[in-house]
Amino acid sequence: MGDRKFFVGGNWKMNGVKTDIDGIVQFMNAGPLSENTEVVVSPPAIYLDYARQKLDSKIGVAAQNCYKAEKGAFTGDISPKMILDCGCKWVILGHSERRNVFGENDQLIGEKTKHALESGLKVIACIGEKLEEREAGQTMDVVCRQTKALLDNIADDKWGNVVLAYEPVWAIGTGKTATPEQAQEVHDELRKWLSGNKSADVAKNVRIIYGGSVNAANCKDLAGKPDIDGFLVGGASLKPDFVKIVNAKE
Ligand code: PGA
Repeated sequence: MGDRKFFVGGNWKMNGVKTDIDGIVQFMNAGPLSENTEVVVSPPAIYLDYARQKLDSKIGVAAQNCYKAEKGAFTGDISPKMILDCGCKWVILGHSERRNVFGENDQLIGEKTKHALESGLKVIACIGEKLEEREAGQTMDVVCRQTKALLDNIADDKWGNVVLAYEPVWAIGTGKTATPEQAQEVHDELRKWLSGNKSADVAKNVRIIYGGSVNAANCKDLAGKPDIDGFLVGGASLKPDFVKIVNAKE
């Protein structure tokens, strides 16, 4: 096993106005958050600056998306340069809601990943199969295809700035978590695939986190699996219980 620091991300999605964010900041800053976990929260773009200013500096902040250019005529979008300018170091790319609600494809997500990394951001890159794909036995085909599109866009020296988030679409926001065994199996197979298609070093060192209905009750069992290096948490990241998920390894 590589030396992979446990990583927990809180994806707020399109939730919360300033008063809600104040509440989240309060329980996050109060913690206590395990020193052994890297923690990053992801507010809506319009509140990146607000959240960054209020959160303790040991808590990282991620944008939920960005475009593949520094600036220009791209109405409604934001660039890595702007995210960095707000003091934030991370971006989530390829979330299933970006893929399935907003129609982003593997190629675009790959290009965004490349530009974000070249700009100096760190990337939480999301992958995961839909229910019908799992039921058709295509889970690894889908996950590897999505990962290949990322891999082609990640320079050798940037892998340390990438966290892969395996988020089966059928588990997101449904309350239907993958079992620890199901998640471990995909993480393990993905690591083997990375070893064959990239390098043993990347496979050993890249953090692969799980997302999909993670909560305070199921996080410890999931965290106990050898290839689950943390979580990307949606709904439960808006509530004080998120602190328990951050501390799932303790
Ligand atoms: P959920 O969302 O925890 O609400 O299922 C996870 C995610 O979309 O990252």
